[in-house]
Amino acid sequence: MDEAVSAAPFPDPRSSAQEAVQVCTEAHLRKEGRWSGQVDGRDVVVFHHQGGSYCMDRICHHAGGPLQDGDIEDIAGHACIVCPWHKIKITLASGESLYRAIDPATIKQRPPKTRWTSKGVKQRMHTAEIRNGNVYVTLSNNEQKVDSDYYYSEEYKKLVSSSKRGTT
Ligand code: FES
Repeated sequence: MDEAVSAAPFPDPRSSAQEAVQVCTEAHLRKEGRWSGQVDGRDVVVFHHQGGSYCMDRICHHAGGPLQDGDIEDIAGHACIVCPWHKIKITLASGESLYRAIDPATIKQRPPKTRWTSKGVKQRMHTAEIRNGNVYVTLSNNEQKVDSDYYYSEEYKKLVSSSKRGTT
């Protein structure tokens, strides 16, 4: 059976000292399966899937796609959001990006076999909790950079403002 290879350990964002922010009701999340919006200026999406709640950056690390519009699929036993733009698969539990890689053990076979493999954590995860009928998000303050942080960087803000001025 295919298995996603787990990336190097990524510190649990729940150690965050950020404040929990109420974003929607539990009823809304259960009915819609997702909520997206801003928390303290950061675009996030919360998914409710098979009894679990997962929060991550809403903008896809790959090229800025809208993860809130993706489908959830099971990839090798991992629930993943599939970005609607280029179909990258991101695990709901850890933010890892999965891809099919050639299994080195079968490199001489024609064709060689492939297996789901992790590129590592590419999408920043935050914490979603349900309490007293409401959903709360606590932003990660983990200092380890992940690719989706780019969309909140000064570099990206400058790019956006210069393109609005037509100076790119
Ligand atoms: S923008 Fe998400 S897969 Fe390319």
